[in-house]
Amino acid sequence: MTTPTIELKPSSHPLSDAEREAILANPGFGRHFTDHMVTIKWTEGRGWHDAQLVPYAPLSLDPANMTLHYAQEIFEGLKAYRRPDGSVASFRPEANAERFQRSARRLAMPELPVETFIEACDALIQLDKAWVPAHGGESSLYLRPFMIATEVGLGVKPANEYLFLVIASPAGAYFPGGVKPVSIWLSENYVRAVPGGIGFAKTGGNYAASLLAQAEAAAKGCDQVAYLDALEHKWVEELGGMNLYFVYGDKIVTPELTGSLLAGITRDSLLKLAKDLGYKSEEGRISIEDWKRDTENGTLTEVFACGTAAVITPVGSVKSAGAEWTQADGQPGKVTLELRKALLDIQTGVAEDVHGWMHQL
Ligand code: PLP
Ligand code: COI
Repeated sequence: MTTPTIELKPSSHPLSDAEREAILANPGFGRHFTDHMVTIKWTEGRGWHDAQLVPYAPLSLDPANMTLHYAQEIFEGLKAYRRPDGSVASFRPEANAERFQRSARRLAMPELPVETFIEACDALIQLDKAWVPAHGGESSLYLRPFMIATEVGLGVKPANEYLFLVIASPAGAYFPGGVKPVSIWLSENYVRAVPGGIGFAKTGGNYAASLLAQAEAAAKGCDQVAYLDALEHKWVEELGGMNLYFVYGDKIVTPELTGSLLAGITRDSLLKLAKDLGYKSEEGRISIEDWKRDTENGTLTEVFACGTAAVITPVGSVKSAGAEWTQADGQPGKVTLELRKALLDIQTGVAEDVHGWMHQL
């Protein structure tokens, strides 16, 4: 498949330096967007075409656009960091590109070539480089590549045309308050995904389905929902937007990929990084009884969540309809903080990138 060349249409109204700096001083998460975006079209019989870097602007969609009705949509999330020398590098973009292809296959959408995905992200970062926060903190430029169906019609079928876009947003902490531990609600009423379903794909429907469970968690005074497997309602899978890790002394364990949870790139990186730091790391099955029992008997020393947006966030407490417990002393654990620092040091260019994860622009 050929890669279309990206044609540049620069914004005639970019934000001023002062306006941009004011946003970068306190970016929050996903609230502000850079001056440009990438758009690439796909049409049946023609493939990918009309790759453009255009001013960030609203889309004009027909009310009968298929995405609006049947949710044929996929997305990705990755970050670019400012390095000590002022240059910029993104974290494992080819892993996001490959997951985007897996999501596309599941949603019966066309696969964007890996090199086109990376080229599109690079082109946007390069043009809007001034939006990448300064080196020194944890801030980054969050990239959101996504694809929607653009065919118009109400018949349920794979669309015959699509639009791929990349937008970018400066990102500070996903959870305000730094590395404050989050509280977890174990949902009994709702599951996130089922075997054979779309749990492994990064598609909007999974997040829409999580909103009511998230509201239930909030009503119970919790920050996030941990989902259990749909069949036995017993095995811990993941949070709505993060994977989970269980720390047993010098071993970290994450739920195995069953098809109904997302193969997080942070999750995968930590399986490797933990070994570099002298820990054991593995994928396994952890039941809700294991979680409670091993916390009580002291063998489960820490639990944390991980993902691109949330980086690594400690779990401080857990609540379900019938039980409630504090995770160890409820404070961020030693292993959690060590892994968090090691990952961020690689991402921000402070530590050596032994795995070749950083993609320098
Ligand atoms: N699980 C879900 C449901 C997510 O949305 C995310 C975020 O992307 C993750 C896990 C973590 O994945 P990654 O580390 O690739 O960001
Ligand atoms: C990400 O971490 O990139 C995600 O997509 C998670 C989302 C809940 C913001």
